[in-house]
Amino acid sequence: MALEAFREQLAATAAALAAPGSGLLAADESTGTIGKRLAAIGLDNTEDHRRAYRTLLATTDGLADSISGVILFEETLFQDSTAEAGGQPLVELFQRQGIVPGIKVDQGVEPLPGGLAGESWCTGLKGLAERAARYYERGARFAKWRAVLQISADGCPSELAVRENAWGLARYARTVQEQGLVPIVEPEILMDGDHDIATTASVQEWVLRTVYEALATNGVFLEGSLLKPSMTLAGAACPQPPSLEEVGAFTVRTLSRTVPAAVPAILFLSGGLSEEDASLALNAINQAADGVGAPWHLGFSFGRALQQSCLRHWGGNDVAAGQGALLARARANGLASQGRYEAGSEPSDDTSLFVANYTY
Ligand code: 13P
Repeated sequence: MALEAFREQLAATAAALAAPGSGLLAADESTGTIGKRLAAIGLDNTEDHRRAYRTLLATTDGLADSISGVILFEETLFQDSTAEAGGQPLVELFQRQGIVPGIKVDQGVEPLPGGLAGESWCTGLKGLAERAARYYERGARFAKWRAVLQISADGCPSELAVRENAWGLARYARTVQEQGLVPIVEPEILMDGDHDIATTASVQEWVLRTVYEALATNGVFLEGSLLKPSMTLAGAACPQPPSLEEVGAFTVRTLSRTVPAAVPAILFLSGGLSEEDASLALNAINQAADGVGAPWHLGFSFGRALQQSCLRHWGGNDVAAGQGALLARARANGLASQGRYEAGSEPSDDTSLFVANYTY
């Protein structure tokens, strides 16, 4: 009933987020995770430092040229910008630029009883409808829920982990659609491990097939939803890393076999790739997709790979340098979303952003 009322708006929001040449800025690091980023540039994890950094993001002129939406953590959705920037709600600064605000609604992962060592399930369903309604009221129009799976020689992911995480994603997606939020469905497969790309592809096919079955069982409106998968890559410790062409071909094959054409966009996470590597892989995926006429917009929803050099250049005080670095990576990824990015044509920080068993 409630979903019916939002159907048109959900499809319009999803289409806006899927605008050609654009993607999302994932700035929804939890308070703990942003603390690690701030520590890396020598800043304490205070509310004022978090406000200052997120004000920098929200006041970057021209960001909307390649960023269609921003994913926020709850604190930021309800936070005001710094006094120097005018003190307006951060959410309004993004909206004024034409950037759609979204919100992370999962409440993190916990160990999965009955699963294999290291496997998790994603929490946050209890009270979700009420929270989603409050976020909508505040201006959010889409949501994110990150479920995490891993590949290991001792049998991960287990069938239990795949089914539980697919079902959780589907319950979440249906729940937030009923409150007017477009769900980003994120079944991340971690890069941890030394497996090859063919192994990732077969696991990811199984995961995505299970996710779309669960979405169908829950009556999720696909035209008003988005997928945020990991790219189809080899494990970070694989002795024979695939070429960019292989990454493009495997990723497009995996998605073509599993994701319905009704889904307007697939927005990849960066998962620990360096800034430049993430852009090059996205570019290769779009080139492979052009070759087969893939039905969806293939864009980005990067966290680490959009913010790494921004944070470093800002360093707590140089707002203009931070914004310049953010714009450079946003432009690079906007072009990569069209298969038009030239390697090295925008500055980047080439640090590997891979962290074993990463939590967001
Ligand atoms: P990364 O791009 O840093 O992997 O993060 C994106 C994200 O939002 C994960 O949930």
